[in-house]
Amino acid sequence: MRILLIGAEGPVGRAAASALAAHEIVTAGRKSGDLRVDISDSASIEALYQQAGQLDAVICCAGSARFAPISEMTEEAFAAGLANKLMGQVNLVLKGLAHVAEGGSFTLTSGSLDRYPIRKGSNAATINAALSGFVRGAALDMPRGIRINVVSPTLLEESAEKLRPMIPGHVPVSAHRVGLAYVKAVEGAVNGETILVG
Ligand SMILES: NC(=O)c1ccc[n+]([C@@H]2O[C@H](COP(=O)([O-])OP(=O)(O)OC[C@H]3O[C@@H](n4cnc5c(N)ncnc54)[C@H](OP(=O)(O)O)[C@@H]3O)[C@@H](O)[C@H]2O)c1
Repeated sequence: MRILLIGAEGPVGRAAASALAAHEIVTAGRKSGDLRVDISDSASIEALYQQAGQLDAVICCAGSARFAPISEMTEEAFAAGLANKLMGQVNLVLKGLAHVAEGGSFTLTSGSLDRYPIRKGSNAATINAALSGFVRGAALDMPRGIRINVVSPTLLEESAEKLRPMIPGHVPVSAHRVGLAYVKAVEGAVNGETILVG
């Protein structure tokens, strides 16, 4: 398969790339990868698909939420998180449909902060839950047998040292397990699913 992987340089993207290394992988990021894209900018997403050519699968392992206590969260900051991690990934699907082959797939990435909430995490919890709703709804009318799923990992072992103070008590998961979730989404038959890891 020819797979477009956005966000291949982060711990999650590296896990996906390593697990799917048997396929042809085209990587993309703002400053890294084979192609340039900023998922928060829909014109940039359109330009990415023009350069990427025909694809069998699109995987997104990029996107950032905003973190602040709810009493300090502003409308602008909340909307910026939605525009990036939620609408960035939704727009990758809306603008990418015509570029994905029959029977292909989209795999998005959320995270566990909707099911294991943390302080300052209301924006991330909202985005993650919304991504589950998006793939569940979209799966019902995706054209040409194209499937769509979202991988929801908890804290990766690789990120644990950096993120543990923010996310106390989470049991980290290995990159191997996270990678297998992307294999299930791309090579398997699941559709409309939130694939939980941890
Ligand atoms: N790490 C964890 O433990 C963990 C756990 C659960 C969920 N997640 C979620 O998984 C996703 C990836 O996390 P990560 O820790 O691997 O992230 P990361 O270290 O921040 O890496 C992000 C990757 O995405 C690219 N990227 C970032 N913003 C982008 C944008 N606006 N447009 C295009 N590419 C962009 C980066 O490349 P450039 O800098 O070149 O753009 C990089 O390749 C995030 O949504 C995160 O919330 C992470």
